Amino acid sequence: MRIDLRSDTVTKPTEAMRKAMYEAEVGDINMFEDPTVLKLEEMAAERLGKEAAILVTSGTQGNQVAILSQTGRGDEIIVEASSHIVMLEGAAHAVLAGVQPRQVPGKRGVMNPDDVRAAIRPMIDPHYPKSAMICVENTHNFHGGVIVPNDNLAQLQEIAQEAGIRMHMDGARVFNAAVASGLPVSEITKYVDTVQVCFTKGLGAPVGSILAGDQETINTARHWRKRLGGTMRQAGVVAAPMLISLTEMVDRLAEDHANARLLAEGLANIEGVEINLDDIDTNMIYFSMKEDGPITARDLLIGCYHEGVMGGMMTPGQIRFVTHHEVTTDDIHKALEVINRVAKSKVTA
Ligand SMILES: Cc1ncc(COP(=O)(O)O)c(C=O)c1O
Repeated sequence: MRIDLRSDTVTKPTEAMRKAMYEAEVGDINMFEDPTVLKLEEMAAERLGKEAAILVTSGTQGNQVAILSQTGRGDEIIVEASSHIVMLEGAAHAVLAGVQPRQVPGKRGVMNPDDVRAAIRPMIDPHYPKSAMICVENTHNFHGGVIVPNDNLAQLQEIAQEAGIRMHMDGARVFNAAVASGLPVSEITKYVDTVQVCFTKGLGAPVGSILAGDQETINTARHWRKRLGGTMRQAGVVAAPMLISLTEMVDRLAEDHANARLLAEGLANIEGVEINLDDIDTNMIYFSMKEDGPITARDLLIGCYHEGVMGGMMTPGQIRFVTHHEVTTDDIHKALEVINRVAKSKVTA
């Protein structure tokens, strides 16, 4: 038995995706001749409510192209303190764009608009970096896949517009937010100038992200993608499964959310587990084990691993489980049986 709950990135392309790759019509994207890429970019832009979109190789590249296209060296970006851009992109914003992150700690990953307003530099003064952009992450990974509420996004948009600065969304899992909120995704992305969406997470594609925004920014983004070596050639083989993601994989995210809730509720009944069920908005579950409980988080993870149930440890003592299309409801019941059993044992590696 193998139930892989480490991440939604572990998913492999579906049969339909593999067939679509095989059959994809392709051309050179440098010459705007790949019909499958053009179709994907058009469809994604429309779905996200933006003028234009560009295929990029990964979520990290999409975020970095967005920063590079909308900021200058020495500028400052205002970002939530535990966001992927700050924590997990190898400081690419500093290395590549030469921008400084002004980190605003959020509650459940949601930045308080007053804190964001206060973080914007008050004046043009050679002492200060120029505030150039607000970045939000939706859903927020390190806060357990929580959804950033639309009224918060609306307030941040107002602040950005008043200050004349840009707003970017790391929407790696924005379709999870949309499905869980029962909204068209464009009702979420309308608050930002640019949005990066990963197709390799819950949407199941093997490669690729989309960066969407206004035409002028996406034109600039094409230069940055080229400079970063992200302009592929016959990338229709990459775009074809991404089209399947858009047409077949979005609505089913609801199943992943239901499975995550089922798993979280089961975990809450296990002795020693510390979990906040109110934090389970989408497909991620973060939990820890009580210090004076029967087993440590590390031992629980190792014990489960030996029985075929795999999770991840994001910070010491904190376990993360993520549901995705390769995990069925039956798998969740089986996983809970294993976790229950291991939690009662005393495992030491
Ligand atoms: C919130 C968030 N943003 C961006 C990324 C980066 O995506 P990629 O791994 O495709 O570079 C990830 C990846 O896990 C993510 O969780």
